[in-house]
Amino acid sequence: MLSLLSLLGLISIAMALAPPLTVQDQFPTAISDDVKVPVVLGVMSRCPDAILCESVFNRVLQRVSDKIDISLSFIAKPNASEPLYGVTCMHGQEECAGNVQELCAAKYHTTSEWWSFVQCQNFQGRDNIGTPETALNCANAAGIDWENGKAGQCAGKDGLGTEGIQLLQQSVNDSIAAEIQKSCTIIINGRQVCIRDGIWYNCEGGHSSADFIRQINEEYDRLNRAD
Ligand SMILES: *[C@@H]1O[C@H](CO)[C@@H](O)[C@H](O)[C@H]1NC(C)=O
Ligand SMILES: *[C@@H]1O[C@H](CO)[C@@H](O)[C@H](O)[C@H]1NC(C)=O
Repeated sequence: MLSLLSLLGLISIAMALAPPLTVQDQFPTAISDDVKVPVVLGVMSRCPDAILCESVFNRVLQRVSDKIDISLSFIAKPNASEPLYGVTCMHGQEECAGNVQELCAAKYHTTSEWWSFVQCQNFQGRDNIGTPETALNCANAAGIDWENGKAGQCAGKDGLGTEGIQLLQQSVNDSIAAEIQKSCTIIINGRQVCIRDGIWYNCEGGHSSADFIRQINEEYDRLNRAD
């Protein structure tokens, strides 16, 4: 028969074994502590394939923007004979200017702001990307103060701001280091998962927005798995 004394003993052992209920248990780790999935699009601002990729990723961002860190990595050829940019952009100097504007917007603004800026540029038609008018109009549409803010200063009036040119050269170097050669190349968590260059290819996991969302969710779960 269980004596009162041994019963009390069992209760105290049970209490010692059970971990105390902490705030942590009631509220799982805050979502802001999570690890985002790096997503890189290797692009050129006036390239039709890049514009297509960015429109696919517009749908991706609508679904998983809180799970990713998205950035653009620009493709051009380093060229010491280029007097303005030091790189040759496949679609001309205006493309270099567009690249600079997009990099500067991304450096100084939130993803939702700079992404809106890029989408707006794309909607103006390929031949208008990189012009001072398009940059100004699209900055306004994206809620960016281009004339008085840091992004506009970085890009300069004609896409020739010193800081912007530096960012472009750095981005071109980064693309070369990451072996990004085709616009558009899609990289999810460091892995090239798909290329769009006239046609889609090397897209093992598919090339629709739903396919990219699925791959991002898988990587996110892997990165944030509680062990
Ligand atoms: C380098 O730039 C010069 C000057 O714009 C140009 O004539 C030349 O074709 C460029 N070289 C390459 C490989 O693009
Ligand atoms: C880019 O790479 C070239 C060649 O390696 C180098 O001279 C230049 O300093 C680099 N530029 C930046 C901004 O990293």
